[in-house]
Amino acid sequence: MKSSTKPLSEYEALIRWVEKMAELCTPQSIHWVDGSEEENAQLCAELVKNGTFIKLNEESWPGCYYARSDPTDVARVEDRTFICSLSKYAAGPTNNWVEPFEMRKTLKRLFKGCMAGRTMYVLPFSMGPIGSPMSQIGVQLTDSPYVVVNTRIMARIGLPVYEEIDRGEKRVVPCVHSVGAPLEPGQKDVPWPCNQEKYIVHFPETREIWSYGSGYGGNALLGKKCFALRIASNIARDEGWMAEHMLIVGVEDPHGEKTYVAAAFPSACGKTNFAMLIPPEPFVERGWKIWTVGDDIAWLKPDRSGRLFAINPEAGFFGVAPGTSAKTNPNAMAALSKNTIFTNVALTPEGGVWWEGMTEKVPSRLIDWQGNEWTPQIAKETGAKAAHPNARFTAPAFQCPTIDPDWERPEGVPISALIFGGRRATTIPLVFQAFNWLGAVYIGATMGSEMTAAAAGTIGKVRRDPMAMLPFCGYNMGDYFRHWIAFQRRLSETPRVFHVNWFRKDEEGNFLWPGYGENMRILKWIVDRARGRARAKETPVGWMPHYEDLDWTGMDFPKEDFEQLQMVDRLAWRSEIIGHEELFLDLREGLPKEMLYERELLICRM
Ligand code: GTP
Ligand code: SPV
Ligand code: MN
Repeated sequence: MKSSTKPLSEYEALIRWVEKMAELCTPQSIHWVDGSEEENAQLCAELVKNGTFIKLNEESWPGCYYARSDPTDVARVEDRTFICSLSKYAAGPTNNWVEPFEMRKTLKRLFKGCMAGRTMYVLPFSMGPIGSPMSQIGVQLTDSPYVVVNTRIMARIGLPVYEEIDRGEKRVVPCVHSVGAPLEPGQKDVPWPCNQEKYIVHFPETREIWSYGSGYGGNALLGKKCFALRIASNIARDEGWMAEHMLIVGVEDPHGEKTYVAAAFPSACGKTNFAMLIPPEPFVERGWKIWTVGDDIAWLKPDRSGRLFAINPEAGFFGVAPGTSAKTNPNAMAALSKNTIFTNVALTPEGGVWWEGMTEKVPSRLIDWQGNEWTPQIAKETGAKAAHPNARFTAPAFQCPTIDPDWERPEGVPISALIFGGRRATTIPLVFQAFNWLGAVYIGATMGSEMTAAAAGTIGKVRRDPMAMLPFCGYNMGDYFRHWIAFQRRLSETPRVFHVNWFRKDEEGNFLWPGYGENMRILKWIVDRARGRARAKETPVGWMPHYEDLDWTGMDFPKEDFEQLQMVDRLAWRSEIIGHEELFLDLREGLPKEMLYERELLICRM
């Protein structure tokens, strides 16, 4: 293929760095990515030729491609993720730390010759709309064309970003990525090259990212979790803003007034679904509407007057496919209906895709995510899933029917409320509101959630996941809490803060709450509270709605069931608070004393 080996940037430091990295990684060629349609078409054709991509049926899935990863490369690898700050304290007890000099030696060994026989792509990207004062710029060197075409959907890339770089006003975050699978002369490539040895490495002080051995998701699309959360959380702390694992929605009420809300739920705990919520029919009729700004990451910053604003630094959705259907999330289904890349879902004989939960009727024959023949009978006998539980779609955000007209506004959208939430079968009520900012920071800091397939690990185990940032905070968690506490001083109006749990279950293991669109009833109360027009009662854990404070129009939900959902079981909260204490013991010296005071108050109220 025709490769732009000539630099597309005039920025000397960038050109020198690319040369230096090429010397280390010894790629066969260098391709400066311009981001054009033609280039994308060429890369996709190459990926098809190599067997990485299968082009889907153009009639039913226009512009869509299908990829199957190596079965050992299917999710983020948290135990292989490193924060290499100068001191161990700066990374903190929740991150894997390696002394930076040591790590650089390891990386030099790993990256030496790692791109042999492959093309090194120079991929410039902007997190946030190009030119927005809140945007940040990076350049990813990668030997994965799969990463290039995915990043083209997930971020703004190519020529306009070089222009921004050449202006020299913004610091550029260098990111180096290799799948770690050099090719000998004449050696045939595999569809999903990767390496069993994986390293996802961040140098917070020098703002660098190095990723080795994986081609999947957050391990490889470095603008996402590595940059927009782990590195950006460091930048944000230094500059007085916040980089959070949050969706952003606009809630339009019957007066046409919009209230923006940001919500932090851990991986695979409902952000994409909540961001694209369609209200129940009676709400729609009265003029309630949800607008989508972002589904995974929010950068929050006070404006000059101290009002909190947020941007979505991404341009696409890298969403969990299983469970996504026309019934649960029609907006996502519309967004992914064209120009989308599917990874690790199942393939239909008609050249379409399928995953568990997509349709009620299960297809009679599929090729599963590992390339094997799959039938409902085989599934029954072996338990084989058609799609991997962490199978994902990469879809352009502008294709979402509810995308907010202001989603690319350079200044962001004003935020009135924040929500924390986890996946908890027991103990945690459906919804409550924090008493005040400090109480809110405590609620976020002590959040727990059952682990999901989004990361390698034990699924279902409750772990503390502060602000849904446990795997994504790029510095000491105690200092991060301190940053949250101090952040209020920068704000002229404190956002109201809430906690939700869509996942509480009864003794038989059934969800007590139907979730999805019905979550609108909770969101309406939240917005009404933020605007000072809804009632609540005081409980030991926070403010809660009475049964009558929620709008039940069109839903037959008995008061007893609601009481069960909202129940504060003092015995269960005893062990919950002991769970908080365990986190605090882990954080030790970094923990702000405010957290201990809040814990004492909670114990007193209990
Ligand atoms: P990441 O992209 O990993 O950050 O995940 P996410 O937080 O965006 O989660 P997503 O919306 O993709 O939902 C993950 C899983 O939770 C899916 O299987 C959904 O079907 C399920 N889910 C989402 N919302 C609800 C809800 O309100 N109730 C229930 N019971 N399940 C839900
Ligand atoms: C998550 O795990 O929170 C994701 C997917 O959003 S990944 O991009 O792989 O991090
Ligand atoms: Mn996420």
